[in-house]
Amino acid sequence: MDLEALKREAASYAVMQVRDHMRLGLGTGSTARHFVDLLGERIKQEKLHIVGVPTSEATYQQALSLGIPLTTLDETPELDLTVDGADEIDPALHLIKGGGGAHLREKMVALASKRLIIIADETKNVARLGRFPLPLEVVSFGLAATQARLRRVLDAQGCHGALSLRKKSDGSVFVTDSGHVILDASCAEIADAAALAQALDGVTGLVEHGLFIGLASAAVLATSSGIRVMGDLA
Ligand code: A5P
Repeated sequence: MDLEALKREAASYAVMQVRDHMRLGLGTGSTARHFVDLLGERIKQEKLHIVGVPTSEATYQQALSLGIPLTTLDETPELDLTVDGADEIDPALHLIKGGGGAHLREKMVALASKRLIIIADETKNVARLGRFPLPLEVVSFGLAATQARLRRVLDAQGCHGALSLRKKSDGSVFVTDSGHVILDASCAEIADAAALAQALDGVTGLVEHGLFIGLASAAVLATSSGIRVMGDLA
């Protein structure tokens, strides 16, 4: 089965967790995109009363085009459920997110939600986080100084790989929806994700890192032999 079909299977399993009158966080990325499509269909067919908070401008546009009623964290600071993708998921449901550059808003929306369900194809499930470079959203003011501070923190945590400014395919610097830039930290393997997250939390100039520790309640993984659920869906 191809990866796109697996992503859609995970999304279609998760969309069945949605109940009428829920306030939803809508994730970002190619897997979350399937979820938003399927949610749009369910809302139309079943006339559900759902409101959603999109985690990026891309998801906002998609949800708008599907007629999904939208709100904001200002209007609706408490959400029932967020469904989102991830770049890596470890056995403790620690995540790396931000491959699409949306992890700041994704984390804010996840923190406002009672539950976060991650949807992914089986390739995202890893024994230990770190093969996927860790996204670090930083303010562009004083970038070199922030980068040097991050380098020291990463080195102290055993993460010695490259720390590179994210660029788009045309060579221009990638800018997030919130107007920041991203440094991607290659770690190869993160020995202690919780300790690294805590160390990064104290770095001035870093707006948010892509480690999600203790946020996901469940992960729905689509495998070639069916759906596997990690954690607690309820
Ligand atoms: C967006 O910044 C990310 O956190 C995505 O949720 C993550 O990159 C997963 O994206 P895909 O579903 O496209 O792999």
